[in-house]
Amino acid sequence: MTRPGVSGFDRSNALQRELHRLIPGGAHTYARGSDQYPDSMAPVLSRGRGARVWDVDGNEYVEYGMGLRSVTLGHAFAPVDDAVRAAISDGVNFSRPTDLELHAAGDFLDLVPGADMVKFAKNGSDATTAAVRLARAVTGRTGVAVAQQPFFSVDDWFIGTTDMPAGIPAATTSRVRRFRYNDLPSLEEILLDGDTACVILEAATGQAEPAPGFLEGVRELCTRHGALLVFDEMITGFRWSAHGAQGVYGVTPDLSTWGKGMGNGYAIAALAGRREFMELGGLNTDRERVFLLSTTQGPERVGLAAFRAVAAEYRRADPVAAMEAAGTALADGVNSAARAAGLGDHLRVIGRASCLVFLTCDTERAPSQAFRTLFLQELITRGVLGQSFVTSAAHTAEDIDRTVEAATAALGPYGDAVSAGSVDGLLRGRPVAPAIRPYAAPRRLRQDNDDSSQQRPR
Ligand SMILES: Cc1ncc(COP(=O)(O)O)c(C=O)c1O
Repeated sequence: MTRPGVSGFDRSNALQRELHRLIPGGAHTYARGSDQYPDSMAPVLSRGRGARVWDVDGNEYVEYGMGLRSVTLGHAFAPVDDAVRAAISDGVNFSRPTDLELHAAGDFLDLVPGADMVKFAKNGSDATTAAVRLARAVTGRTGVAVAQQPFFSVDDWFIGTTDMPAGIPAATTSRVRRFRYNDLPSLEEILLDGDTACVILEAATGQAEPAPGFLEGVRELCTRHGALLVFDEMITGFRWSAHGAQGVYGVTPDLSTWGKGMGNGYAIAALAGRREFMELGGLNTDRERVFLLSTTQGPERVGLAAFRAVAAEYRRADPVAAMEAAGTALADGVNSAARAAGLGDHLRVIGRASCLVFLTCDTERAPSQAFRTLFLQELITRGVLGQSFVTSAAHTAEDIDRTVEAATAALGPYGDAVSAGSVDGLLRGRPVAPAIRPYAAPRRLRQDNDDSSQQRPR
């Protein structure tokens, strides 16, 4: 295994300028944008293997986050790629279903015993939106209760409730209300209106486990008030367990939505649920039919073949245990180093071992984007790339050691900033900003900024 390391970002910066010229935000996903990285330090990647990635300048990094948590087995995982190669040699998109659709559905329902039927798609957002539509059709109600958690869909019903609602009529979200996770009264208050079609939440997030009785309480409230319970398993699926969070916490939703880890980075998502509800999208009903996830690419064979190979790997091995072991070693290593440096109150790795983040606080111990950016800057220059410390099963002991080394070295400048009360003179550019925010400021492109020049790369 080679040593990760960084020599410069010239080519990345040139390509990033061009990305900004051709693509709004300079990336096809806001969470991957250059504004999520220190100025002029947003590597443009060219390849990956295991937990390592390489950028266009030839720099090598240990990567975390892993494709917005979609890659659980590691980049270029051979059994998945081999299955994809085998599938594409026989064509990928036909006029009728293939046997692969049936086998993939069987694999999925074996893994998720609480569901009777499943329908595949390419994006998680389509699946969560379909769950909302189905719940509204089932119940004849319009209200949606959504947990105060970061993300559920790119569609209007959800984005209209975020800090970036431009272009979405207020009427679209007038029936969408947010409740507090781990706070049953805040949910019950919504359900008392008698017009809530569904309650949608992640059963857990990296930073918040369900309090004892919370999920059972949500289940009971949904049943009592006639709302469908929807678990968004986009992140928890294949990261908490092969059976999702519902397999870990033992509470069965009416519908659940999946994506990300299903395909180890390949595009595949799913809506799953109880037969009596799912059939409304089918032919075994006399009720008015629901338009349920019908897309050109839904049954495309690359994603389905990838999913089957992922499912086989989860049957063969225990990738969740591997990513948790890597995460535990990483959190222990970085947290010990921070404590030893007297910075334990300022920099902490927190969360579920398979879904870690770092908490970066300033001199006053308040979370700080500037201090976060300084930590990112110091990690990147030492060959560690990640907006989080989310691991995969491919993170080796050496990857973790290199990361702990890099983080320990990063504590030097970090400690200087804590002592000085500011990142001034240490941070080389502007701080990062939340991916979903109403204005481009504080990372608006500037003519004099590496990120923003309109020049074409040489
Ligand atoms: C919890 C959750 N739900 C839904 C989505 C949407 O999935 P997709 O990006 O595949 O549309 C995401 C994406 O980040 C997510 O984190």
